[in-house]
Amino acid sequence: MARDMRRAASAEPERTALGRLLTLTVGAPAAGGTFVARHEGRVVFVRGAVPGETVVARLLEDAKNSAKARFWRAETLEILDPSPDRVPSVWPEAGTDGVGGAEWAHIGLHAQRRLATEVLQDLLRRAGVSTLATEEAQVEPAPHDTDGLGWRTRVRLTRGADGLLGMRGWRSHEVHPVGENPLAAVEIRELGLPDLALPDAVEAVDAVAPSVGRPAVVLIGRGLSAAGAGASGGFEVPEGLEGVDLAVQGPTGLTAVSGDGMVTEEVLGRRFRVGATGFWQVHRQAPEVLTSVVLRDMEAREGDTVWDLFGGVGLFAAALADEVGSAGRVLSVEGDRRAGALAEENLAALPQASAETADVTAWVRAQEKDPDRVVIDPPRAGLGPELMTMLCARTRERIVYVSCEPSTLARDLKAAEEAGWRVEDLRAFDLFPHTHHIESVAVLTRAS
Ligand SMILES: C[S@@+](CC[C@H](N)C(=O)[O-])C[C@H]1O[C@@H](n2cnc3c(N)ncnc32)[C@H](O)[C@@H]1O
Repeated sequence: MARDMRRAASAEPERTALGRLLTLTVGAPAAGGTFVARHEGRVVFVRGAVPGETVVARLLEDAKNSAKARFWRAETLEILDPSPDRVPSVWPEAGTDGVGGAEWAHIGLHAQRRLATEVLQDLLRRAGVSTLATEEAQVEPAPHDTDGLGWRTRVRLTRGADGLLGMRGWRSHEVHPVGENPLAAVEIRELGLPDLALPDAVEAVDAVAPSVGRPAVVLIGRGLSAAGAGASGGFEVPEGLEGVDLAVQGPTGLTAVSGDGMVTEEVLGRRFRVGATGFWQVHRQAPEVLTSVVLRDMEAREGDTVWDLFGGVGLFAAALADEVGSAGRVLSVEGDRRAGALAEENLAALPQASAETADVTAWVRAQEKDPDRVVIDPPRAGLGPELMTMLCARTRERIVYVSCEPSTLARDLKAAEEAGWRVEDLRAFDLFPHTHHIESVAVLTRAS
């Protein structure tokens, strides 16, 4: 890759577009981890640059990069004038022409957080959020995170056309070989997954480093026979995977080879059962950081009725159950059948908490009683103004909104303001270091 960059750098940048080289002065961060530049009046979103730099960038071979397109996308090939915020990449394989998932690995950690803060504040301003002083929204590191490495407790590798296990490229389905992923938890790195000799039918591998017990690995493939797996089924455990809980995900579902296809996570002294391929906050510290902030922000009292919407396996519900006590009620709602069933199991010892598997919007519509407080933690698409407005109409005291996508958060906060609520507080956390992603927690209360 470095050789390619040198070769490209020696070429004279061409003046015209499409699949060619442009010399660009790079400006502000844009949503999606790119940076804004202009070429003859047209916006170009550049990956792999740093604001303030002058770079030679290659327009991506992207159908959208047509001569008529309003904007183009490009990747940095050579840096003519580097920014002081540029550092040697913590993961060179995630650079130009490399894997996705660490698009800011070439930027110092402090600068990454400053840039993420800029994006967050800009999105809030553009959405017209007016009840929060936007400069108060600052991206904070996870506690004690000094290098942003080793945080990923969930990793997926995919088999490429060359038969090797690798990772997908940035905004592409192409699989690139990987050596070591420095963002992955050490327990996953030590498995040396890319070098293992796995059955040909394996199309992808999920690796999990839970907080309790040994790592789990799931081999995924449409041609993988579940019949051969199972304690007595004689599935041959690939060399190198003897020390993990192994499962096989074939066309008929997941079958455990060793272990039970589940992992155990411990958060603030409480244990949760999670499916090995099911949703769990990915950063090692995220469950504890977010639970602590949600608990504090909800200000739940004895006897309250609390809804935990998009509740997963019951992470926030379990902690909130303690706050509302035996006279209160916590209802956790999750759309995924497997996660909903696990939430029931995880909350079983807490009589004041219960879990339901349902679509959140349909469930909220069907409720006869209003809640005192609501915590919501939707996927990237957010709530949408309709559900946000409905929750604002029904919630008596507080809504705490946990978000992994600041653009939809900003849109939904604006909808809440229009429904007569105000944003009392917003904290943002760098729970995806070396990427542009951030996790935010906003507190909404009634404006009057
Ligand atoms: C970001 S995760 C949060 C899970 C949980 N709060 C946690 O921290 O572990 C979002 C969850 O919402 C669920 N989900 C997505 N769309 C949904 C819908 N329309 N109704 C109910 N749940 C949904 C997903 O299955 C996922 O478990």
